[in-house]
Amino acid sequence: MSLFRKKNVEQMLAGAQSAGLKKALGALDLTFLGVGAIIGTGIFVLTGTGAVQAGPALMLSFLIAAVACGFAALAYAEFASTIPVAGSIYTYSYATLGELAAWIIGWDLMLEYGLATSAVSVGWSGYLQSLLHGFGISLPAVLTAAPGAVPGTHTLFNLPAFLVMMAITALLSVGVRESTRVNNIMVSIKVVVVLLVIAVGVFHVTPANWHPFMPNGWNGVFGAAAVMFFAFIGFDAVSSAAEEVKNPKRDLPVGIIASLGVCAVLYVAVAAVVTGIVPYAQFANISHPVSYALQVAGQPWVAGFIDLGAVLGMLTVILVMAYGQTRVIFAMSRDGLLPAVLSRVHPRFATPFFTTWLVGIFFGLIGALVPLNVLAELINIGTLAAFSMVSIAVLILRKTHPELPRAFRCPGVPVVPVLAVASCLFLMLNLQLITWIAFVAWLVIGMVIYFGYSRRHSKLAEGNR
Ligand code: ALA
Repeated sequence: MSLFRKKNVEQMLAGAQSAGLKKALGALDLTFLGVGAIIGTGIFVLTGTGAVQAGPALMLSFLIAAVACGFAALAYAEFASTIPVAGSIYTYSYATLGELAAWIIGWDLMLEYGLATSAVSVGWSGYLQSLLHGFGISLPAVLTAAPGAVPGTHTLFNLPAFLVMMAITALLSVGVRESTRVNNIMVSIKVVVVLLVIAVGVFHVTPANWHPFMPNGWNGVFGAAAVMFFAFIGFDAVSSAAEEVKNPKRDLPVGIIASLGVCAVLYVAVAAVVTGIVPYAQFANISHPVSYALQVAGQPWVAGFIDLGAVLGMLTVILVMAYGQTRVIFAMSRDGLLPAVLSRVHPRFATPFFTTWLVGIFFGLIGALVPLNVLAELINIGTLAAFSMVSIAVLILRKTHPELPRAFRCPGVPVVPVLAVASCLFLMLNLQLITWIAFVAWLVIGMVIYFGYSRRHSKLAEGNR
């Protein structure tokens, strides 16, 4: 039974009340928050691989991924608002589903956030290089990408990706957090850049490039949807803000649906424009497909502006993900499930300094050494698995804890959570076998650590004894 030991919900709620976060956010703020966390490497970089896989039907792949995210986001929002304490779904599941489920979800989140920082740093590197190229500066080829990332080119280490991770890690370790103002500026830059792509690109579209529309059939479309799911990750940031929302019942669903909707519309339009300018097969091995399309269209200035906007805008995505990663590890360590050194707080900076650098260097190296596509698939499988578990948890909690206050209730229970699980599983099934193997290996390592270490060192277990 110890696998199901739970934190005390009443105690957590009391703690949250004394923490007293300000309820200041409205639907529009939430939409900004969501769009800021969502737009990044997915649309700016993976669009290229997606186009090769799905052809111009990449537009459909984006829609499919967006719908799956919508179901999952509604279920996620109920879970995140059930126990209104700041923290990730790891914390909530500890109180409601028990220690083992919380461990699995936390372990999964570590994979999601950690690898996401690596992936976005790789995307950032592609755009930085394109920007530098505009000024006539090129790095030595071996330092531009991970080994094997560019067929036919000898590459060893993605230096810009590593350096940007070190810079973000340095900021985080001394306690720089993303402020609402910086976020709003970054969101505006990203949205302007995307709109610019659409507005300028549309005049350079050759409709003949949209034929054949679905060169690899539905398989290609679904496979690309499973990869492009990455482009929507980050909407969970909206749900996690539940406690700071003025009117969660109305504002949360509006914020979630609006940020997903805005991004879906932008993504579909970008997919239409870039596959209309460049024949889809030409995107193979292009690390900056969106600005590349504008270069092909003969708009080097616009392309340069896109490079700059992408380089600036992706920084916040790395920062948000890296922050989330260190805080999940911090929480797990404080609960005794990971060694205590990981929740040690720096006396001067009041940050988990050691953890921040440890994961910063580790995932910085991964970004420098592993190709982007491999990373994106792994992140997606981890995230999709976590979202499925959360959706199941919503159904379980309605039965086991009907009395818990829920700032937001998922509409259409049980249909919506069931659809969320089904669509997450469907996308997971469209990922490659090698991704599944790596994911299962990650879970097995997690189980070994849990049963070998965490179960005995759990603070909750100590308290019970
Ligand atoms: N959705 C985020 C991105 O595309 C993770 O970079």
